[in-house]
Amino acid sequence: MKSDADRVPATEWLREAAAQLAQTDSDTPRLDAELLLAHSLGVERGHLLLDMQRSLTPPQCVVADRLLLRRATGEPVAHILETRAFWAHDFKVGPASLIPRADTETLVETGLRHCSESRSVRILDLGTGTGCVLISLLSERPHALGIGLDVVQGAVDLATENARKLGVRNRATFRCGDWFSALEPQDGPFDLIVSNPPYIPSADIEGLMSEVRNYEPRLALDGGPDGLDAVRHILKTAPSRLVPGGSLALEVGVAQAAKVASLAACEGYQCVEIAKDLCGIERVVSARWDTS
Ligand SMILES: C[S@@+](CC[C@H](N)C(=O)[O-])C[C@H]1O[C@@H](n2cnc3c(N)ncnc32)[C@H](O)[C@@H]1O
Repeated sequence: MKSDADRVPATEWLREAAAQLAQTDSDTPRLDAELLLAHSLGVERGHLLLDMQRSLTPPQCVVADRLLLRRATGEPVAHILETRAFWAHDFKVGPASLIPRADTETLVETGLRHCSESRSVRILDLGTGTGCVLISLLSERPHALGIGLDVVQGAVDLATENARKLGVRNRATFRCGDWFSALEPQDGPFDLIVSNPPYIPSADIEGLMSEVRNYEPRLALDGGPDGLDAVRHILKTAPSRLVPGGSLALEVGVAQAAKVASLAACEGYQCVEIAKDLCGIERVVSARWDTS
């Protein structure tokens, strides 16, 4: 017969788990431990924190310990939980695509500034991944329609599932292919093109945190020798897919914004602007394309 002596107080499990994770690359050991325990118990983290008197049965301990081991060996919390909060929603994530980053919310904010609330605007999201950017824009602009493209079929599948779950599937189309070549003749022209392309210089990939280097797909990171291969391609090709007066907004890496802004101006874009993220880093370059 099981007795209370077999049970482990949640506070004790959390203390030991956080101490173990503090010995790893995790920057947030206590938070990670709380998220893993809540997930293993099938409750929200807030719920767990409100009921810290609870104790874990042996089977609950086994499940929580298994998740802890995965985290301790470097797997990102988002992959273990299969979800990440971004903008106003929880997005399903997986190995096929980048885990949405808080920095990328700056791209959504910039996109919204370029997107009319009343008109039925068309939006193109290049390298859509989980669909987090396009789906967030569509959720804020109920009259907008969008297309999300990605070269990885697994990412397209994730984005499609997220769009369905978050109630915008009827306004979002996802296709697999290499940048603009995945578009069909009837697609567009677009009022807004957004992209968070791969922008890490190839030589810097090895120096990334192990969690990123080992678990994020290289296709989502590697931007070529100076990180700007995809950015250059998008800057050159986007005008043929924009309405006159349409906008392009690109997320960029640390210290890339001035260079990208100058590339945009050289290509003939107007009203080139740079937006900072919450850490004060220049994160998004936006511009307008006007043929007049
Ligand atoms: C930095 S991730 C951004 C993912 C998502 N938009 C986000 O912000 O979280 C870049 C995305 O571009 C996609 N990608 C890379 N090369 C591509 C190509 N040639 N054509 C289309 N998508 C590409 C990757 O698969 C990846 O999903």
